Amino acid sequence: MLTFHWKFTVFHFLITSCCSLNHVNREENPDIPAIAKYFNTKGRYEEVNPQLTEDILAVNRSVLQLPSAQCQEIHLTAIIRHGTRYPSTNHIKKMQKLYKVVMNNASGEQSWLHEIKTNWTMWYNEDMDGRLVQKGVQDHKHLSIRLSRLFPSLISEENLQSGHIKFITSSKHRCVNSTLSFKAGLTEEWDIKDTEFDHAVNDALMRFFDKCTKFVEEVDNNPSAVEEVDRFKQGPEMRRVQEKIADRLSVLHSLITHDMVEAVFHLCAYEFAIKTVNSPWCRLFDEDDAKVMEYASDLREFWKRGYGHDINSKASCILFHDVFNRLDKAASENKSGQQVTEAVTVQVGHADTLLPLLTLLGFFKDNNTLTSTNYINQSERSFRTSLMLPYAANLVFVLYDCGGGDLRLQPLLNEKPVTFPGLTDQQASMPRYQDIRERYRVLLQGCDFETECQLFKPSADI
Ligand SMILES: *[C@@H]1O[C@H](CO)[C@@H](O)[C@H](O)[C@H]1NC(C)=O
Ligand SMILES: *[C@@H]1O[C@H](CO)[C@@H](O)[C@H](O)[C@H]1NC(C)=O
Ligand SMILES: *[C@@H]1O[C@H](CO)[C@@H](O)[C@H](O)[C@H]1NC(C)=O
Ligand SMILES: *[C@@H]1O[C@H](CO)[C@@H](O)[C@H](O)[C@H]1NC(C)=O
Ligand SMILES: *[C@@H]1O[C@H](CO)[C@@H](O)[C@H](O)[C@H]1NC(C)=O
Ligand SMILES: *[C@@H]1O[C@H](CO)[C@@H](O)[C@H](O)[C@H]1NC(C)=O
Ligand SMILES: *[C@@H]1O[C@H](CO)[C@@H](O)[C@H](O)[C@H]1NC(C)=O
Repeated sequence: MLTFHWKFTVFHFLITSCCSLNHVNREENPDIPAIAKYFNTKGRYEEVNPQLTEDILAVNRSVLQLPSAQCQEIHLTAIIRHGTRYPSTNHIKKMQKLYKVVMNNASGEQSWLHEIKTNWTMWYNEDMDGRLVQKGVQDHKHLSIRLSRLFPSLISEENLQSGHIKFITSSKHRCVNSTLSFKAGLTEEWDIKDTEFDHAVNDALMRFFDKCTKFVEEVDNNPSAVEEVDRFKQGPEMRRVQEKIADRLSVLHSLITHDMVEAVFHLCAYEFAIKTVNSPWCRLFDEDDAKVMEYASDLREFWKRGYGHDINSKASCILFHDVFNRLDKAASENKSGQQVTEAVTVQVGHADTLLPLLTLLGFFKDNNTLTSTNYINQSERSFRTSLMLPYAANLVFVLYDCGGGDLRLQPLLNEKPVTFPGLTDQQASMPRYQDIRERYRVLLQGCDFETECQLFKPSADI
């Protein structure tokens, strides 16, 4: 965990220091809201990979840091979140309500308020309900092309044509559409026409959270599972943000609820993610406000999908075993002299798919629990969904053969190498596959979805 955090920080340092020109431009770029790095799961992928704002197809193979030149990729599994999407119906209703209050009750001379009132229309409607937007199509097209350039021997035209690349998706329209977009990126890149490549819909794997009874009953449908979130929303930090927003709109403090503040934040985030505009809604927040909003959302993810409750991550046992079964199969096929049948697996799901798995694997675990009262203490936390889970977030596992049966496993999050938590420093960079299997031995031997997800575990004395 510590190694991971350190690497992450160093990586950020490299980005900001190596590309200072780029960095300066970004700071001054009037099209990017100053608060864009605090949008949690509603953030743009470009915010975690800023070099992409210059060149959306930029890849740098030397970030992979192979231990030796003879290492060759033999298998890749990518678990990818869908691309940029419209808000859900629930969020759209809240935005509409907030918009009415601003139009009817806000007064003031600020130019951004004038712009909202005269030059902004409420264009979101409830039919949009979470569907993929055009930007989301591009997210996946570009991602597939970048991954094919990063791993050209695996994500290759030959492997696609010969059926060695498998696609699995959640049944949600935005995921199916993302999967089609990912494939379209490849077929357009290689100029393949008139060929359809299959994908399988598999909710048991990609929407395990719906199928895990214990999780549904004890967390998803249980308000007390997220009581820390409610406390934070009623706490002093959030109240201060509400008051500041009310003051900026010149309305009574009592008129601005937490839901409304959240709706404004979402409006700023969606206008940016969908249309790449820095909308006047963003002017209602300063950076301190945005950090509080970000924490509220991280707190929710922590208790609903992350370390807050053990079952959150255990619900992903089925996906965990699926990943390792595939790695084992590729390893043994390669060892026994056969061609690896599934060179690449692309699995498209949700933030709710990725976060439990990242948690199960021990990534982004801080020393202290996120609570309603330790906002300040958590300012340096590693659990920041803005960095982990933007649209099209992806966790990629690459299995390498480094000669003589020396297998290595490299994890990448959002195209950046990360370190499995809990390995020694010596093991950490490009770890041996056997060390990873040892690291997760307890989970590999247990972590049974059916058992973990039962509401009442059978006990020995019954
Ligand atoms: C690619 O990454 C390597 C290693 O991180 C770095 O030294 C190099 O400057 C990068 N190249 C480009 C063009 O960014
Ligand atoms: C807000 O505006 C509506 C419509 O004009 C009005 O009915 C309502 O009283 C106003 N609320 C406040 C608190 O000013
Ligand atoms: C009004 O909106 C249009 C389109 O979004 C934009 O091009 C124009 O600059 C805006 N005008 C003002 C005064 O903000
Ligand atoms: C995918 O979403 C885009 C953007 O909403 C839409 O234009 C396109 O028709 C969708 N594609 C499919 C195959 O549903
Ligand atoms: C195993 O993978 C390595 C690296 O790609 C390759 O050189 C070797 O031929 C593979 N073995 C078999 C039997 O395919
Ligand atoms: C977490 O706790 C360990 C052990 O007390 C300590 O060594 C480490 O520095 C702490 N990490 C952070 C990020 O505070
Ligand atoms: C914040 O951290 C400090 C130092 O670790 C500790 O003394 C304090 O009790 C913590 N405060 C909260 C609210 O957790």
